[in-house]
Amino acid sequence: MNYRHGFHAGNFADVLKHLVLCELLRLLTAKDKKLFVLDTHAGTGGYDLGGGMAARTGEAEAGIGRLMAAPKAGTPGAVARYLAAVSAYDRKFGPAGGPLRRYPGSPRLIRAGLRAVDRFVACELHPQDAPTLKREFAGDRSVEIRQEDGYHALKAALPPPERRALVLIDPPFEATDEFERLARALRHGLRRFAVGCYAIWYPIKDTAAAHDFVSGLADLKTLRLEIDVPAEGGKLSACAMLVVNPPWKLEEAMRESLPWIEARLGPGVRTAIFAPPASSPVPAPPSS
Ligand SMILES: C[S@@+](CC[C@H](N)C(=O)[O-])C[C@H]1O[C@@H](n2cnc3c(N)ncnc32)[C@H](O)[C@@H]1O
Repeated sequence: MNYRHGFHAGNFADVLKHLVLCELLRLLTAKDKKLFVLDTHAGTGGYDLGGGMAARTGEAEAGIGRLMAAPKAGTPGAVARYLAAVSAYDRKFGPAGGPLRRYPGSPRLIRAGLRAVDRFVACELHPQDAPTLKREFAGDRSVEIRQEDGYHALKAALPPPERRALVLIDPPFEATDEFERLARALRHGLRRFAVGCYAIWYPIKDTAAAHDFVSGLADLKTLRLEIDVPAEGGKLSACAMLVVNPPWKLEEAMRESLPWIEARLGPGVRTAIFAPPASSPVPAPPSS
């Protein structure tokens, strides 16, 4: 396991993923019914932007850094709430104002979006990152941290007694068969709990593999959100969030939010939204 999310925390990919995650949490907790949330690949929970891994790549500056620095007039509601969650986490580490010191990972954003009645399980397998995640939530009894394979946890945790669930699947894509593992785990989860909301992040590096993955899920009700940034030095330049069984207001919120983000992340950044009717074919990507 070589992947460390600390190098990438707060980059354009996190911006898309965490914007969608925050809005999903808001929409799914609007009903007066309990929610179970599973974060299958949780990372460490919070990231130091001032030093360490993030400072070595500078990826956060071109992501969350640009959004935080942008004038706030006319910010779409979903983006404003995401930025407020980021600021609220950062303020735990010192006074407001100035550059961000720390960026919240998915477990922190989930924890901030949950109510007392909800339940949250976060899985992280890395021998260094799992203990860090445990320390991040030390003493917080509303989060259950497990150092175990998130795909196994997904199978074991569903269906949840709450009968409502959000599952975030955010693998590192180090393994060559990650798309296959992900698709198998998702199908398994859907067989056990068909009405759950599943939010999946994936890179668009190998466009054919990403296309095959999405095509294989064409029978499902999904909302797909993509972002593409100008490539620099062979770095990841495009990724997507695929939401299976999206709450109906998510699309509207993203249609408002993504153009705003696109305009502020810099020249050449493109976002796209795909809300295909179930069973419609996914057009093949242009051959490169
Ligand atoms: C992309 S990062 C997660 C980032 C986090 N979800 C966030 O948004 O802040 C993927 C994480 O999955 C962990 N990981 C890799 N394989 C895993 C597995 N099978 N089960 C659980 N965690 C795993 C990695 O150590 C890494 O920290």
